[in-house]
Amino acid sequence: HERLKPFPKNFLWGAASAAYQVEGAWNEDDKGVSIWDTFVRIPGKTFKGTNGDVAVDNYHRYKEDISLMAEMGLKAYRFSVAWTRIYPNGKGEVNQKGLDFYNKLIDELIKHKIEPICTIYHWDLPQALQDEYGGWESRKIIEDFKNYSVTLFKEFGDRVKYWVSLNEQNIFTRLGYQTALHPPGVKDDRLFFQVNHHANLANAVAIKEFRKYVPDGKIGPSFAYSPAYPASSKPEDILAFENAEEFTNHWWLDIYVHGKYPKATWEYLERKGIAPKVEEGDFSILQEGKPDFLGVNYYQTTTYEKNPLGGVTMDGHFNNTGKKGTAEDIGVPGLFKTVANENLERTNWDWNIDPQGLRIGLRRLLNLYGLPILISENGLGEFDQVEKDGSIRDDYRIDYIRAHLKAIQEAMTDGVEIIGYCVWSFTDLLSWLNGFQKRYGLVYVNQHEEGEHDLRRIKKKSFYWYKDVIENNGSNL
Ligand code: BG6
Repeated sequence: HERLKPFPKNFLWGAASAAYQVEGAWNEDDKGVSIWDTFVRIPGKTFKGTNGDVAVDNYHRYKEDISLMAEMGLKAYRFSVAWTRIYPNGKGEVNQKGLDFYNKLIDELIKHKIEPICTIYHWDLPQALQDEYGGWESRKIIEDFKNYSVTLFKEFGDRVKYWVSLNEQNIFTRLGYQTALHPPGVKDDRLFFQVNHHANLANAVAIKEFRKYVPDGKIGPSFAYSPAYPASSKPEDILAFENAEEFTNHWWLDIYVHGKYPKATWEYLERKGIAPKVEEGDFSILQEGKPDFLGVNYYQTTTYEKNPLGGVTMDGHFNNTGKKGTAEDIGVPGLFKTVANENLERTNWDWNIDPQGLRIGLRRLLNLYGLPILISENGLGEFDQVEKDGSIRDDYRIDYIRAHLKAIQEAMTDGVEIIGYCVWSFTDLLSWLNGFQKRYGLVYVNQHEEGEHDLRRIKKKSFYWYKDVIENNGSNL
């Protein structure tokens, strides 16, 4: 067994969440309506119509949750701010009650020596901005996002030193504008790239502002990173894999780090007439917003093979017939399509389990971008069972997290700088489309779509295991 570098002394052993998924209190203290508050009310959009009106009630129980974090010895907690608590209509007058809530949350974390990591945007766009100008579809979003971000920097920047700008831009835009599974439920490839261009600009502008208000802080976007594999050693599959790597990963990462779009993908979009409209000066803005670190949300790798011109599209339909594919395959005709990787075990939600893939991905990021990495999400969504004695023996989750932490340690040994690791998630929470049955927490929350749900917290076996890992700074994996 090769000798591994130990985890650094100041490693941020963390856990993560997002406002809509934990807070609840959806219309309290003058909070405005977000696109998720609206979307979940459309019949058939979420599992059994589940919504985040109550979620796991963290808005009222944050003290209890933080005391559990303290008991665990957690070093960092990543949470997101609900834009609609700060600006109920996305802009205009600031809502003091919203600021008060996050001030209390941050102070409580600091009291327990837990480093706050604040995500500015985790998908809950103010509905008012969607209604007024289509949200991310308009360049107006750049100014409103900047203003909202600056408010957070001014209010919380004295105590919050780690910031995540946008959470998984690649996912919220894909699901919002290609598959229509998330709000605003649109399928339009041209708009997809345009929306992304605006989000890139908003991200860069916010990072540039950040330097003025929190000069001693660190900021970066969190990317849903799914490293690509080729399905075989056939040259056409290797080409498909290269296409996918650029189209699904470097399209965003190159912009974040270098302020430019990768060439081959750009040429492809131009040929198709769906390249984003870029204004003069955009690329200088993008180059001025370089992050301090890359946030990596890692769940799985994706394997790709050749996709014929009549093949499957990003919404899982066939280009030539318009019919839905049999598998959950997606792709870009002529470039690549996804295919199952039979070498990997899968979860009950058919997600690949691939800790080595994380090491592989981190090595690629090291070579291409060279920035420090914050693993801002990683974890296992599963059905959990409360035993008769009240315990939850989630050994599968322990195995999953342990294997990924080992892969991280291997990547560190390879030379990747990793500043922390946030388990998704601390408590169970609302899985956007899967309700409360798909659980990620180290702490169980008795919350269900139906039946008895008193919201009580129960520590899972993984809670005690992670506590032990933290205590030993990862030396006992
Ligand atoms: C990430 C998101 O995509 O994955 C989280 O940042 C999300 O908000 C997590 O909950 C797990 O996804 P899911 O669909 O299993 O809840």
